[in-house]
Amino acid sequence: MVVYGTEPYNAEPPPGALAGQFLTRLDTFYARNHGPIQQIDAAGWRLRVDGLVDRTLELSLEELRRRFPERKVVATLQCAGNRRADLQEFHVIPGEVPWGPGTTSTASWSGVSLADVLAEAGLQVRAAHIAFASTDVSQEADPPQPYGGSIPVAKATSSEVLLAWAMNGQALPAAHGAPLRVVVPGWIGARSVKWLQRVTAQAEPSDNYFQTAYSVLPPEADPHKFGPGDGIILGPVALNCAILRPDKDARLPAGATEVTGYAFAGDDRTVARVDVSPDGGSTWIQAGLDAPESPWTWQHWRATFTLPAGERELIARAWDSTSAVQPESPATVWNPKGYANNSWARVHVTCHP
Ligand code: MTE
Repeated sequence: MVVYGTEPYNAEPPPGALAGQFLTRLDTFYARNHGPIQQIDAAGWRLRVDGLVDRTLELSLEELRRRFPERKVVATLQCAGNRRADLQEFHVIPGEVPWGPGTTSTASWSGVSLADVLAEAGLQVRAAHIAFASTDVSQEADPPQPYGGSIPVAKATSSEVLLAWAMNGQALPAAHGAPLRVVVPGWIGARSVKWLQRVTAQAEPSDNYFQTAYSVLPPEADPHKFGPGDGIILGPVALNCAILRPDKDARLPAGATEVTGYAFAGDDRTVARVDVSPDGGSTWIQAGLDAPESPWTWQHWRATFTLPAGERELIARAWDSTSAVQPESPATVWNPKGYANNSWARVHVTCHP
């Protein structure tokens, strides 16, 4: 892993470690934390469901397992800061982790459907948002506070949103939110709250610091002074892609070279096409693209070129099922906190004879 910090622990796999892997191994799955990793005694833990509901619930892990059907969803998590490093190359973004394309990982999640738990509690008509609260107090927040966030009721009651206790068939590791975390497929990873303690049905979105911190601000905004309404609060992931092999600045023998990567459409869309250029965008070929397993997962792609000796820029760009295409340049999407960089993926390589 490429480790950016240990307190809080923030790490991503090098891009090549994700190449060709549909499910991401637990020791390769990125970790994004704003506070300390929580070590929670599962036996004493309870989930509270409250707010605008007919019945407040207090559920142990055992009760969750017994009272609700177990569900499994394969879903890709992507951090909103994925590929921030490319934005930072265009223009500085101080104080933010220089993430590469590795804060995107896929697991098979098991748990219960949030919709089933909310149905048991009985959502009242005024409930428009479902807020999640955790225990990890983040000093990055202003003022310092436990991590939280919310999603609208329409998403929260869709069958794909899970309260998960397992990942790739193994008990959820502490680093990924044990004993229970939210998994919101197709939405930025920030809404998949780890170490879940409380689910609250409410009329307004969460007032947690991280709900609004995960916003795209206009380029001229001051990232230290933002409030509700100043930016676009992030929810569904935007269409994106990355080159996983060859590595950035790789030195390769001239000749046949396979270029591989992932593309992820986000929300309930799928990736329809990926084109790859071996020469900085002068010519393009259509990559072989894996069929979507569901809208909730990334799709891997590959293309082979015969590369002559010299320096080259490899580029990839994706289209989604609505025919939207990625923007060409980081300059178009640059924003002061460096979120949602979905510009074309570019890797510079040198081929030697
Ligand atoms: N939940 C809590 N309690 N604390 C956090 O810092 N980070 C969020 C989200 N849930 C976070 C959290 C962010 S920004 C992301 S991208 C994902 O968790 C990362 O999940 P992972 O560390 O399991 O990959």
